[in-house]
Amino acid sequence: MTNVGIDAIDLWVGNLRLDLPGTFAPEKGEDPNKYKKGLGLYASSFPDSYEDIVTMGANASYRLMERNELTPEDIGRIDVATESAFDKSKPVSTYIAGCLEKVYEEDFRHANKGERKFACISGTQSLNDAYNWIASGRNRGKGALVIATDTALYERGDAGEATQGAGAVAMYITEDPSIVSFSKEQGIGSADETDFLKPNQQFPSVDGHRSMQVYLARMREALEDYKSVTGDIHPDDITYGPFHTPFPGMVKKAAVLAYRNVIRGTEVADEIEDEVGRQPEPEDYDDEEEYLEELREFTDTLRNTDRYLDWYAKRIEPTLQISEQVGNWYTGSVHVARISALLHAFEHDRSIVDEQMIVASYGSGAQAEIHAETFQSGWKQKIAKLDVEEQLASRYDLTFAEYEQVHDNHNLDIETDVEPLTTPEDQFAFDGWGAMGERKYRFVD
Ligand code: COA
Repeated sequence: MTNVGIDAIDLWVGNLRLDLPGTFAPEKGEDPNKYKKGLGLYASSFPDSYEDIVTMGANASYRLMERNELTPEDIGRIDVATESAFDKSKPVSTYIAGCLEKVYEEDFRHANKGERKFACISGTQSLNDAYNWIASGRNRGKGALVIATDTALYERGDAGEATQGAGAVAMYITEDPSIVSFSKEQGIGSADETDFLKPNQQFPSVDGHRSMQVYLARMREALEDYKSVTGDIHPDDITYGPFHTPFPGMVKKAAVLAYRNVIRGTEVADEIEDEVGRQPEPEDYDDEEEYLEELREFTDTLRNTDRYLDWYAKRIEPTLQISEQVGNWYTGSVHVARISALLHAFEHDRSIVDEQMIVASYGSGAQAEIHAETFQSGWKQKIAKLDVEEQLASRYDLTFAEYEQVHDNHNLDIETDVEPLTTPEDQFAFDGWGAMGERKYRFVD
């Protein structure tokens, strides 16, 4: 069977930073602990006035290509996943390829380019497309460049304003990859939902509290579907569990439900029985409300056991370290969680080759997908090339007034002329509008 997965990975963090508990919360009259303790968010990344989904995607891709000595000749396919597209016809991948062609002698003339849409899950779907393209043998020895890029901005005053973010993740997918290989097995949970949507509008209509319920429901279905193919999963066989992370607090809610699900019937359930009792099962109850109430109580007890807290601290918390500093990147969020896990393993000098991650993606509208990834022998060498800490630290810190200007500047319904707060260097930048309303870009040395 063909071994396909991620051979190289990189990211681009928007050049601006908004301190959520320190700058945003006081202006909104909110307790900073809503961010620190409730949502698990410390900062959001924002795009400067010369940044957008194209520059961020091109910058992530350029760094990936340079650090891994790739040229356009190595890439047979470019797929962009985004929910912030500004063109209903011309895909963002063509703009990004155009940017990259400014800095490479070769071009992407024979690369198949496209754009994927299904809210935040489309990055994972693009990985799936790359997997199928390579496994089918249509790739002629080349790899696929998958880019997840978004400016996750909400209407000012909307509850979602608390969970904004901007950035891009670029991934190079090949046969016999260096970092992780994808499992053939996957599980899907999918239903027609209206928790978050953008019907011909820039900023989303979102029912945030409902979207959390839909996330959990689809995730459970995807997990059941996955287990129906693989058999039971043991919680200690999951080295890391990167989830789609609109904000870390969401993952905290999802992780305990996943744990409750996978310990069922294992020795873990026996070992903690004295502390938490037996997990309620629906067939033992005539009344559904009573069952759900017992299940809630069981889950609350479970989430405070040492056994669970230790599992969460080792396998889930490490996936949230970047997210809590950048906010929601929509399509990129689950891939940011994967990078965070890999960096954690690197910083702690862990030996993880042949161990597994369970990757749990979600997109509103709504669909969840679960698959496994196995760490490959070249992971450490590839992760050593990343400079995530430096990128996070070099962002410009926004005042609240600057934040409002930046938000207006990216609002397509408002005409503003805002001076950039940072100076682009060694990166792509927006360079104005063309005659047909197209966006133009330049590379700034
Ligand atoms: N100390 C500790 N925790 C606090 C707190 C304080 N002072 N104040 C609030 N909190 C907690 C709340 O209890 C809540 O946690 P809980 O859900 O575990 O109860 C959390 O912080 C958030 O507070 P809440 O009042 O629910 O915030 P909100 O009404 O502003 O809404 C979201 C939060 C996430 C629903 C909202 O920001 C949103 O809609 N975001 C967009 C979500 C989205 O895009 N979804 C689609 C993609 S998945």
